[in-house]
Amino acid sequence: MNDRSTAGPSPHGPTAGLGLKAQHYEQALACPAAGLWFEVHPENYMVDGGPRLAWLEAVRRDKPLSLHGVGLSLAADQPPDPDHLGRLKALADRYEPFVMSEHLAWSARGDVYHPDLLPFPRTRRLLDQVCDNVSAAQDALGRRLLIENPSLYLDLRGHEMSEPEFLSAMVARTGCGLLLDINNVFVSASNLKQSAVAYLDALPADAIGEIHLAGHAPDDRWGEDLLIDTHGAPVSAAVWSLYERTMARIGPRPTLIERDENLPDFDVLMAERGIADAILRQIPEARRA
Ligand SMILES: [Fe+2]
Repeated sequence: MNDRSTAGPSPHGPTAGLGLKAQHYEQALACPAAGLWFEVHPENYMVDGGPRLAWLEAVRRDKPLSLHGVGLSLAADQPPDPDHLGRLKALADRYEPFVMSEHLAWSARGDVYHPDLLPFPRTRRLLDQVCDNVSAAQDALGRRLLIENPSLYLDLRGHEMSEPEFLSAMVARTGCGLLLDINNVFVSASNLKQSAVAYLDALPADAIGEIHLAGHAPDDRWGEDLLIDTHGAPVSAAVWSLYERTMARIGPRPTLIERDENLPDFDVLMAERGIADAILRQIPEARRA
């Protein structure tokens, strides 16, 4: 597959992409939109063959791809699973993503795997643990990872540093980048009664390699006091506003519209992607270098 570019989504600067969903394979394959790229969870494609891989192969033939993993459990008290890393590397070698990312969370302890991305206290000990795991994963994959900021629902005790401080130290020590999920920032700031703007301004801008935008919803029981990162609604006006402000400040970055629940028609998602693309194109040429 050496004929395909593994550079960014467009020679004209960062563009917006969509999550690739099985319901939309045909439209994704046929869509001629300039700069369109797709993101998948690699765990859904760690199989030996079959129609799912055939679709990915076909879409990847002329569209850039991002791999966004959920299975490395980088904040766990144990190194990433070598078998999982091996399968992930094989997938990356085959499909040559322009970027690979993972979550700042844990989901495995011993042989027990949880179906959630779980939080942890941001202590110096956990920073050492996360950095060891990120470095081990990058070494095994032979690639730089972007690490995504989590959505937080309660303020754990025992933090020794803020999340931007933790992320900045992790970037400095491992050479990883950041996947900045602006909806996650908004949800966490709302739930923990903190400032989303202050959080965004404290991040190391140069490390941010991709943006996620998604929808959220108030919890059934707690209402607006507890926002849930559902990925089941359009991006909110507040998140669009934070996105526009962030792109103006740090310059354009590849931006993904994440939608996993209440999946609308492909054209509806393409229209939402068009909003992100228009914001990216508004950024002055001087900021696009
Ligand atoms: Fe995300």
